[in-house]
Formats: sequence, structure tokens, C-alpha cells
Amino acid sequence: MADSSMTTKTSKADASKLRSITITINGKEHTVWVEPRMLLSDVIRDEIGLTGTHVGCEHGICGACTIIVDGRPARSCLMFAVQADGVQILTVEGLAGEDGSLHPLQEAFWEKHGLQCGFCTPGMLMSAYHFLEEHPNPSREEIRDGISGNLCRCTGYQSIVDAVEEAARVMRQGKE
Ligand code: FES
Ligand code: FES
Repeated sequence: MADSSMTTKTSKADASKLRSITITINGKEHTVWVEPRMLLSDVIRDEIGLTGTHVGCEHGICGACTIIVDGRPARSCLMFAVQADGVQILTVEGLAGEDGSLHPLQEAFWEKHGLQCGFCTPGMLMSAYHFLEEHPNPSREEIRDGISGNLCRCTGYQSIVDAVEEAARVMRQGKE
């Protein structure tokens, strides 16, 4: 179902500069009016209200803003929202089941203490989600490589690798 919205931030902009874009996020279609200069990360958070996607560096370095765009991981701080017109996006809010059941990655991050402050966690989860799609039975070295584009200031990565390894095991069992 389409969800048309124009929030305070956008409504302050010169209306002649606004563009209408339609993005499907976590299976729900959103039509929003945006300025061409607006970043996809800001539109997801501020216009659509999905604040699970975090913004750290805004320079494509930290990975906190990672989302899945048309099946591929992408830094939402490096895309303009107008570039996302018509795409399918998965954000961290879309990982859990509709009944609220956590994704095996979310369960494993919880169980294995893969998060401390949690700031990097949404990006870590989305990178790991795509990584496990391509590497269902990864070595720890491959996991480290797979999440190497995501920075964490808290965990030393050990428990994150433990969590991704555990999620991979659970997901493989689920497919047997
Ligand atoms: S906020 Fe996008 S990579 Fe850091
Ligand atoms: S858990 Fe704090 S930055 Fe990763």
C-alpha cells in the first residue's frame, strides 16, 4: 500500500525543487517528496521514520548506514534518495518476521554478545545478511573479510564473528 508523506523537514524546502520518488522498503511502498540533494539515509530515517538505519560518518567509511538495495548491500549515505526511485530496499527493520520473531542473525548477536553500544549493529546485520546469502558455510576468516567494511568501536569484532558463525550454523540447519 502506498504511503504518501511530506514531513516538516521537507515542507520547509522550496516546493519547486521537490521530486516525488517511490521506494519499496521492507515490502511496503512509500511515496515521498524529496529535494535532489537529500541523502537516501536521511530520507529513510527522517522522512519515512525508519531510524534503525544508523548514520555515523556520512562518508561511506563506517558502514553503519548499510542497507540492501535491489539485493545488494549499499551505503545509504552515499546515495541520493532520487537515485533510489523505484528500487526495493531491505533495512534492519525488515529482518525480523512479521510475527516479531527475530532473524537468526539477530538472535545470534543477542546470544553471542555481538553488540555493546549497538550503533554499528544495523549495518553489521545487513552486511552479514548479504554475506551469508553468498557464503552459507563461511570460515571465520571469510566472516572477518565479509564484515570488514563495517567499523565497530566497542566489541573487538570477536563476538560479532562468533554471532555470524552461529547464525550461519542455525540457517544451514533450517535449510536441511
Ligand atoms: S554513515 Fe554511511 S558509511 Fe558511515
Ligand atoms: S557495538 Fe558499539 S560500535 Fe559496534
